[in-house]
Amino acid sequence: MITFGNGRAIGYDDVGSGVPVLFLHGFPHSRSLWSPQLGALATPARTISMDLRGFGESARGEPGGVDGYADDAAALLDVLGIERAVIAGLSMGGYATFALWRRHRARVRALVLCDTKATADSEAAQGARVEMQALVKERGSMAVANQMITGMVGRTTREKNPELVDELHRMMSLAPVQGIVDALDALRTRPDSTPTLATIDVPTMIVVGDEDVLTPVKDARAMHLGIAGSRLEVIAGAGHVSNMERPGTFNHVLSEFLVSLTAQ
Ligand code: MLT
Repeated sequence: MITFGNGRAIGYDDVGSGVPVLFLHGFPHSRSLWSPQLGALATPARTISMDLRGFGESARGEPGGVDGYADDAAALLDVLGIERAVIAGLSMGGYATFALWRRHRARVRALVLCDTKATADSEAAQGARVEMQALVKERGSMAVANQMITGMVGRTTREKNPELVDELHRMMSLAPVQGIVDALDALRTRPDSTPTLATIDVPTMIVVGDEDVLTPVKDARAMHLGIAGSRLEVIAGAGHVSNMERPGTFNHVLSEFLVSLTAQ
């Protein structure tokens, strides 16, 4: 579906009813990353996925960094008449989730930080973002998908689930070039969210695949230590897109987390 929020088109899906959960995808994905979760949780939930600015069916608009992604998420909640939602962000979606917490915390019922980290880019990582911008401008999104696909999934998925690797590669190769360029700026310039961790006072679950090489378990543990009362779930046999690689386990821990919220 497409709606208008923050002055531009936003692509989204909205399935089920119950506690609202808004899912934010990583780089360079689209909302289809979350198809294994939509309508598939064991607890009643309104599962909503959205395309971040410049990806999928969402219009590009002004590049706004991770703050822009966060503002669009808040705008979508406005459009859907949702006051507070559980925000679940994977990797870049996690960086946007930290921004959403800083800018719109009244909209946050709880947080799910998936395969992401609090720290900013190192100098070397910033340089790699600039190099990737040159690559995508010269050779297109397929070249980015080719470069990223190996790290995007875990060893187990590469060995046992080539169909999923193909699906993910296809998703990434369809990402619009300009959306990728803008996102690389957003990634390169994102602030260090480490100081944000101590400000988080809503229920928080951190999920990470034990084979994630892009945002490894040690980054998840650092967030877990920094967020008082948070819960850490390490998913065996999953890499960076743990929700796609181990959807059964991921949906189970997410459902349990949602149940724990309603019990509070
Ligand atoms: C992502 O999956 O969103 C990216 O790998 C994040 C990053 O490169 O920092």
